[in-house]
Amino acid sequence: MLVPPHGGRLVDRQYEGREADEIIAGLQGLKSLTLNAREKNDLEMIGNGAMSPLEGFMCRDDYESVVDLMHLVSGPVWSLPVVFARKVGDPEVRPGEHVALADASGTIWGDMAVEDVFNADLASEADRTLGTTDISHPGVAYLDSLDGTYIGGKVRSIRRRDTESFPNYRLDPKETRVLFRARGWKTAVAFQTRNPIHRAHEYIQKCALEIVDGLLLHPLVGETQEGDIPADVRMRCYEEILKDYYPSTRVAMSVFPAAMRYAGPREAVFHALLRKNYGCSHFIVGRDHAGVGNFYGTYDAQLIFDGFDPDELGITPLRFEHAFFCRKCGGMATLKTCAHDSSHHVFLAGRKVREMLGEGVMPPPEFTRPEIAQILIEAARKGEDR
Ligand code: ADX
Repeated sequence: MLVPPHGGRLVDRQYEGREADEIIAGLQGLKSLTLNAREKNDLEMIGNGAMSPLEGFMCRDDYESVVDLMHLVSGPVWSLPVVFARKVGDPEVRPGEHVALADASGTIWGDMAVEDVFNADLASEADRTLGTTDISHPGVAYLDSLDGTYIGGKVRSIRRRDTESFPNYRLDPKETRVLFRARGWKTAVAFQTRNPIHRAHEYIQKCALEIVDGLLLHPLVGETQEGDIPADVRMRCYEEILKDYYPSTRVAMSVFPAAMRYAGPREAVFHALLRKNYGCSHFIVGRDHAGVGNFYGTYDAQLIFDGFDPDELGITPLRFEHAFFCRKCGGMATLKTCAHDSSHHVFLAGRKVREMLGEGVMPPPEFTRPEIAQILIEAARKGEDR
């Protein structure tokens, strides 16, 4: 038996094919609200059940409860707001109205039965959820771009498979659950990532795989900040490394269609709960998970899990110390397993690695496998690294 979804039931508010066509036909002539990239991703994940038990964008009661108490009003743990922001130029809407949700180009991705239109204190949201109001934090900058009014209500989402990126890797929670069952996995560990795979990632994934049945590589492919390597380059790295270095029957890869919030600890809990909906019993939390700059302590994203009852989380965090290659050990290690001082450890800051790749210089194989470095150098050469 796989872990049950968060809240007990996998939400299914996603439509495709003829059903979707009927919904879209019914929306013609209604008011339409504009989805930004983050909200479009959130709509997809509410619809396909990745956000279970959420059935829509949050109304004020859930929003305040999540910001203040990290729980939904109905009880389940929930650590980050999932909200729809009013946009400049959109029509005024009131509770009780039925509206279409479309992207900036006018393509309809779903609808909402509006239940609540409310003002939020965005500085307080930033402070509570991101731990800062510093505008140099990308999550604060995002909030600062909003006008402070949220529109809540249940949604339905339209799946348009023909337009999706990574079509071979876009499994919904019900599909990953079918896959895990077909492979006979009772336990699976999810790996969240927004960066190209390196040796420390591989090490913690494989340590985790020693104790569970399967590994779900779940790279985030929604919006990331300037400077992060684009998702298609990261996916090419994974395709390459999976050819030779992972046992194919024990690993699955699918994309995680969410935007990064860079919310550190609160996002680690959010990431874990969504992976539980995909059927994962365990979730990897390493150093500075979902962090940015120096906004969070190295292990804050692990410590936050101590504040919850394991039963209310329903997914087990697997915590990993900062991993590195130790030349004296002759392998990957952490301070928990290595007896040698830091002069033997291969450590490279992300900025330094990017510099090397940009100059066509291979980082040491103890840091990144050469096959991966080659892909990243090639991408940098073509200007794909932003
Ligand atoms: S994240 O924003 O998705 O957390 P990243 O892709 O770098 O960024 O990290 C993916 C996961 O690997 C996170 O759980 C992170 O904590 C962990 N991680 C990254 N590098 C290391 C490392 N050197 N040692 C231990 N854990 C790491």
